Amino acid sequence: MLDKLIQCRLQERVRSVLPDANIDTVQVRPCPDLKFGDYQSNSLMALAKERKRNPRQLAEEIVGDLDVAEWCEKVEIAGAGFLNFRVKNEAVAGVLRAAARGEHLFFEKCPKPRTLVVDFSSPNVAKPMHVGHIRSTILGDALVRVLRLLGHQVITDNHIGDWGTQFGKLLVGWKKDLDRSNLESDPLGEMGRIYKQVNASFEADEEVKNSARQELVKLQDGDVVNLSIWREMIDLSLKEFEKVYSRLGVTFDHVLGESFYNPKLKGVAKDLLDLGIAQESEGATVVFFDKATNWSDPSIILKRDGGANYTTTDLATLEYRLKTWQPSEIVYVTDARQQLHFQQLFHIYHRWRPSSSVVLSHVWFGMILGPDGTPFKTRTGENIGLNALLDEAEERALVTVTEKNPNLPESERREIARVVGIGAVKYSDLLPNRQSDYRFDWDKMLALTGNTAVYLLYAYTRIRSVARKAAEVGAKASTDNLQLVQPGELALAKHLMRFGLSVEAMATEYRPNYLCNYLFELAGLFSQFYEKCPVIQAEEKERASRLALCELAGRVLKQGLEILGIATTERM
Ligand code: ARG
Repeated sequence: MLDKLIQCRLQERVRSVLPDANIDTVQVRPCPDLKFGDYQSNSLMALAKERKRNPRQLAEEIVGDLDVAEWCEKVEIAGAGFLNFRVKNEAVAGVLRAAARGEHLFFEKCPKPRTLVVDFSSPNVAKPMHVGHIRSTILGDALVRVLRLLGHQVITDNHIGDWGTQFGKLLVGWKKDLDRSNLESDPLGEMGRIYKQVNASFEADEEVKNSARQELVKLQDGDVVNLSIWREMIDLSLKEFEKVYSRLGVTFDHVLGESFYNPKLKGVAKDLLDLGIAQESEGATVVFFDKATNWSDPSIILKRDGGANYTTTDLATLEYRLKTWQPSEIVYVTDARQQLHFQQLFHIYHRWRPSSSVVLSHVWFGMILGPDGTPFKTRTGENIGLNALLDEAEERALVTVTEKNPNLPESERREIARVVGIGAVKYSDLLPNRQSDYRFDWDKMLALTGNTAVYLLYAYTRIRSVARKAAEVGAKASTDNLQLVQPGELALAKHLMRFGLSVEAMATEYRPNYLCNYLFELAGLFSQFYEKCPVIQAEEKERASRLALCELAGRVLKQGLEILGIATTERM
């Protein structure tokens, strides 16, 4: 868009004045305060400082021959050497016309597409998905959507926890105490129950401990009965997870759980030993860390009984992904508590494969708190299941929809409530800075005002209703005579032009809150425009122009929500 074009010209100009400068550092960004202009650059100041030159003088020299007149008014040099650019209305209109012709929607595909693996959701078999998995699923999915939209190749992998010592306890419970009819009606609940039952007596009862150990060893040795129970647990769990995923509209290219890497773990340990990265210590295979890391405890690769750890599996997983898909980056989306795990994993990996250039990113997030500020649980202290949570969201949304639209047929109200309820849960998860904890608050997330999905979805339905009215009177949108005259028109048009910046910011920092805030502002600017500028009632030229603005605002809003994984509805 215009900022990119201006930036390009500015970079060319810097190159001719300072041939040795790294022009990638020369950037044009939106002005934080629109009083001063639409875009600005503060890059020249650093260049001047490096060269011990007077920054204002350098700015004047560069601006003197900077040719951006086709898009901008006179470039202003401010303060210690800021450049402020104010774009011409005609240039804004040009960008909008191109969008109306379908040439772009205010963002550009990445010129250098990359291959990325995104590891997200990753719940554990035989346990209900808890709220911690909600954030991973919703956030991970949104990141995948934005990366794909920008043209990157993204491989999604659900790294489910389908192996580990918990299966010893689960097998004991399954054989002794399984209630088949419970298992049918609520598989994860029943598996959770038998697990808890065994776990309760585990520490105190040597016999339980021993049988859990034996069942685990049998499973690991390929015992047919135990293997088939284990497979049943996985199948049942995956079916339950799938119910949640399909409600959320989330899919995965691969579901390669921890067990997939079992055959590779001994090889990983041997390799680390051979390379001197790991060593034997008290019968275990461990990696010690350098003093500089501040990690006092070593990472255990193989326990004394020969069993592997979470880190070992993740090392094998990393190696497999790199060999299979050759990504330039792997992104892991989990809660904050796994930070140390990933720091150590990445550290060990780089020692193991020093020549690998893969970027390893841990995109972590904070906790979801209940209304009282403590970790979100049900009244009886259980983790809240995701499915029940979505049920409640839809039910609560139905109340709101019914209040607003008592005359719509029930099936339609339910469908709208589904979109609104699921959208509200997703949005309330994506809006806060992902690294802070946030309070789960039904009333706030379903409010019609404020920065909520409901507000955005409602704004979208208003735009759609303008389009329906226009169709009724036979009015057509057109950008041929785009009028950016009223402050409301101009502000909306300029904001549309900035869509790509928020999309890119979300994709580079893995922060959907940038896009959420952009969309909230868009909805606000639309409503200011709509209040001040009549559309259907306007005379023909203005009407066509304003209808075009409505249409573009609607398309951007819909596209933005789609990136967040939120569906839209035509009516509310
Ligand atoms: N199953 C793990 C959990 O629920 C998350 C796995 C994340 N991915 C990974 N490659 N370690 O905590």
